[in-house]
Amino acid sequence: MEVLGIDIGGSGIKGAPVDIAKGELAGERLRIPTPVPAKPKEVTEVVARIAEHFGWKGQVGITFPGVVVDGVTRTAANVDHEWIGVDARSLFATAMGLPVVVLNDADAAGMAEVTVGSARNQAGVVLMLTFGTGIGSALFVDGHLVPNTELGHLEIRGKDAERRASDHAREEGEMSWEKWAGRVEEYLRHVEALFSPSLIVIGGGVSKKADRFLPLVKVRTRVIPATLQNEAGIVGAAMAAAAL
Ligand code: BGC
Repeated sequence: MEVLGIDIGGSGIKGAPVDIAKGELAGERLRIPTPVPAKPKEVTEVVARIAEHFGWKGQVGITFPGVVVDGVTRTAANVDHEWIGVDARSLFATAMGLPVVVLNDADAAGMAEVTVGSARNQAGVVLMLTFGTGIGSALFVDGHLVPNTELGHLEIRGKDAERRASDHAREEGEMSWEKWAGRVEEYLRHVEALFSPSLIVIGGGVSKKADRFLPLVKVRTRVIPATLQNEAGIVGAAMAAAAL
């Protein structure tokens, strides 16, 4: 079975058909830059173009970088505020004329990692954290997702954690890997004190460079990089749509 997965990110909107049984892309992915500003109408046009590019006729799973409850986008920390309160599922479904599932981007990435990636067969509490424009989180208990946990917005030193420790914060602040690893460590210590996970999976584009910073991050919990990296969102979105 193949399902189209689309991952809406801060800089790019990426899509590809996903082979659900294998948990991998079934073809080359298409990436289109995220419109600026990333308003609902413009983003929906790009999403529909991706489905059109693949001549898609079946189910579609779509990630969104904010809270999504019953297809409605409730927050928009890193996209245009017009998204707050939008019925994104209906918007996308109408534009494409296809059945759609919409879920949080980190939740999607986590689902892929827990099903076919680095956290496969891991019992207990598993926390996936994605470091990109923001910090996304996905919390699993014996493989079951607790959706929309939003742990990137915990407060650290009086600031939103993602403003201090996201990959965007590293780039913007021109931080050395050592300095940024310190920020990540402080953040992970906070999170592990609250949730005592058995495993933390680090995702997002920066997980490709895990060897530069993970050895410098000292916490009690086992911390490993994601295996699906950039494709986790696409794969997880498709899996969520296939599950319905
Ligand atoms: C949003 C989350 C999202 C994360 C990663 C945060 O700012 O609030 O919903 O998962 O960024 O994109």
